[in-house]
Amino acid sequence: MQINSIKLSNFRNYESLEFNPGPGINYLHGQNGQGKTNILEAIYYCSSLRSHRTSKDVEMIRSGSDYFYIDMIFSKDGKESQIQIVKKNQEKKAVKIDGLSARKSADVIGRINTVLFSPEDLKIVKGAPADRRKFMDFLLCQISPKYYSDLQIYSNLLDHRNSILKEVKNRPSMGQLLEDIEIQMADYASGIVSKRIEFTKRINDICLVKSHDLSGGEEQMKFIYCPDIAINENISIDGIKETILNKFRDSRRIDIIKEMTHKGIQRDDWDIMTQNGSLKAYGSQGQQRTAVLTLKLAEIDIFEQVKGEAPIILLDDVMSELDGSRRLAIGKVVDSNQTFFTGTDKSFFEMVSDKVNYYHISKGKLVDTECSCT
Ligand SMILES: Nc1ncnc2c1ncn2[C@@H]1O[C@H](COP(=O)(O)OP(=O)(O)O)[C@@H](O)[C@H]1O
Ligand SMILES: [Mg+2]
Repeated sequence: MQINSIKLSNFRNYESLEFNPGPGINYLHGQNGQGKTNILEAIYYCSSLRSHRTSKDVEMIRSGSDYFYIDMIFSKDGKESQIQIVKKNQEKKAVKIDGLSARKSADVIGRINTVLFSPEDLKIVKGAPADRRKFMDFLLCQISPKYYSDLQIYSNLLDHRNSILKEVKNRPSMGQLLEDIEIQMADYASGIVSKRIEFTKRINDICLVKSHDLSGGEEQMKFIYCPDIAINENISIDGIKETILNKFRDSRRIDIIKEMTHKGIQRDDWDIMTQNGSLKAYGSQGQQRTAVLTLKLAEIDIFEQVKGEAPIILLDDVMSELDGSRRLAIGKVVDSNQTFFTGTDKSFFEMVSDKVNYYHISKGKLVDTECSCT
């Protein structure tokens, strides 16, 4: 999988950019605040239809303008495709694939696979459960369009249930509606949970090996699913559905008092452990960084296993924070995937590899391109 060209209009600080990256390592360098991360954000946006930095698409429209436009050509299995995204101020974004309007997000997500490494990734270990759900959901949504649409439908049903919980005290006849919604919620939730179980296992298998390698045999990292509604992992999908539905029913009385659904997959979490305990609470900064790197490397492997193709790697300002063995692990990945790095220090990179396309970014412009490929 490879990106062949990116055109941006009025995206962040780019009035207009045309960028033709190389198939291997692309290093965007320049001082802070020039627009390096903005390019990575545009690529990530094409793959997931959301930014990794903001939930508000309008923030990406260049100040003073009323729209942004992204036009990206990518190739997959040797076949070239185009994605075009326009976002106008007051309107929903419009997406086209190969010139045809995409009807729903699920038709787009998963076409361009990216794995982003950014300084904020530490949140996967140290942050709230929502940060770990975001990590898993991003991966699973790209792998499975069904997971993506199930998650969207579940979230709409959850909103609906919550709104009924607020009214049902005064309108007891709505009780039947609650029951109907819970049946549907349990149905979608069971599909989501079974995918979370399956892929947690797959990630865990990879993490055990990679953490061992990265720590010189000293550490074994485990990635453990902690669903909010306790589930026996070996039961069938129907069993999962029944367990979840029973929990919704049991919780209904207290949910009505609190006017809020307080149990469900929207509160699932994962624990990241080594043999010495949970890294969230006890890990050193170094161990936490290794854990994040391990999870991200596992993400790359999973994409390769499931999609049969190497994802595009986006590394935002992370190389300088990594020590020798972790840098080496990244180096291996970079050899076989198209990669976009950002950083301030060009000379630092010259030590890492001699086959690099360099792009100097300054004030929202690509000012210089240089290739050290031999
Ligand atoms: N909507 C926007 N309109 C214009 N400029 C923006 C917008 N959003 C961010 N910027 C500018 O983009 C720059 C930051 O770009 P970024 O890619 O994060 O920098 P870096 O090169 O440090 O990675 C800042 O100068 C910021 O003011
Ligand atoms: Mg940046």
